[in-house]
Amino acid sequence: MSLATTPNTPTEETRRNKTGLEEFWMPFSANRQFKSKPRMFVSGDKMHYVTDDGRKVMDATAGLWCCNIGHAHPTVVKAVQEQVQELDYAPAFQMGHPKAFELASRLAEMMPGSLDHVFFTNSGSESVDTALKIALAYHNVRGEAGRTRLVGRERGYHGVGFGGISVGGIVNNRKFFGTLLTGVDHLPHTHDLKKNAFTKGQPEHGAELADDLERIVALHGGETIAAVIVEPIAGSTGVLIPPKGYLERLREICTKHGILLIFDEVITAFGRVGNTATAAEYYGVQPDIITMAKGLTAGTIPMGAVAVDSKIYEAFMKGPENAIELFHGYTYSGHPVAAAAGLAVLDVYKGEGLFARTEELAPYWEERIHALKDLPRVIDIRNTGLIGAIELEGIEGKPTARAFEAFLQCFDKGLLIRTTGDTIALSPPLIISKEEIDEIFDTLSGVIKNLK
Ligand SMILES: Cc1ncc(COP(=O)(O)O)c(C=O)c1O
Repeated sequence: MSLATTPNTPTEETRRNKTGLEEFWMPFSANRQFKSKPRMFVSGDKMHYVTDDGRKVMDATAGLWCCNIGHAHPTVVKAVQEQVQELDYAPAFQMGHPKAFELASRLAEMMPGSLDHVFFTNSGSESVDTALKIALAYHNVRGEAGRTRLVGRERGYHGVGFGGISVGGIVNNRKFFGTLLTGVDHLPHTHDLKKNAFTKGQPEHGAELADDLERIVALHGGETIAAVIVEPIAGSTGVLIPPKGYLERLREICTKHGILLIFDEVITAFGRVGNTATAAEYYGVQPDIITMAKGLTAGTIPMGAVAVDSKIYEAFMKGPENAIELFHGYTYSGHPVAAAAGLAVLDVYKGEGLFARTEELAPYWEERIHALKDLPRVIDIRNTGLIGAIELEGIEGKPTARAFEAFLQCFDKGLLIRTTGDTIALSPPLIISKEEIDEIFDTLSGVIKNLK
């Protein structure tokens, strides 16, 4: 039935279609494909999910880059249960509860340099839009209201808010949602298969791509640009590792022109790249703002955060004492149950030495993933820390189909992978063992060998 002829009131036919799967409009999913052959997880424990037909599936993606401590960790389960009993909710505006303050302090301690104030959100998308708004307002309160332009990057993913999709560089957002925010420019992406294919860690070529920021500055005037936002490692568009010297160069140019540098660390924070809390620290490049989510509560309860440099926070702390300094916030900013989960997750990271574990396992992970180099249709392999990507040659006229087929076959064989375009992206929980790494790559190589 075409949309034009669909009646507003349900008919017998539309009612009969309500199978129990129909009503949920799934996010970022092929709804019809899923609903014709659903893949349901009903429980999870440590490295595995369990499906509704009782099969164990190894989680090679930490859910969606978030379940860094594995599933159903008893420390976090207990903390969440106790918190919901003790204080389920407290107003976030003009009121507080101790755990949000404690979590902000613990996070500030983990952040590099003077990123020592934390604003809470509920997701990565909200963190990004919050960071962009803070950047714009920061210049405004300092008397540089002319700094209204934002700079993102091609192939950047910054969530789904209007700010995030505007600075992001994903063609489908432009195609479906229009021209988005005005006053936004994009740096070129850094993915260069010709020069950098099969690089282990950071590619040699591409630092000069950061110089494009000078072109944007020359075009608009540096004094009109509020902030540059990039993911240190672009995750959702295929795991693009920053070329050597690239992030450093971006930092230099931002500093030269008084532009804030925002690192979107929604997937890279919390030990994903090595024995550091952030990719900023791992790469030794200091941004002015870091956005986080996912690993902050290891996926247990939604929460995001934005860490800002003290110079930014201090710029707002002027004017009458009873005035609201930043006109922004969410009903659930610093939610008690999320804050309790966050504190427990930070305890687990520390207590189990999980960031150090990433560093320890990274060489083995690198060796195993790059051993897939000679498999048919593999055109690139990329890695850093416990992140990996295997790029497949796409099927002519059917982009994404080959990788999606690999996803379906892996699921049938008890392995959860993630695909983006024709790239297989891997980001297992940091609790993974060498034997489990072997299992992932043994299954994957079997699947890739048999792909059409
Ligand atoms: C770098 C980055 N920013 C923002 C987001 C959006 O996060 P969320 O889905 O929690 O809104 C993501 C999600 O994958 C991300 O990878």
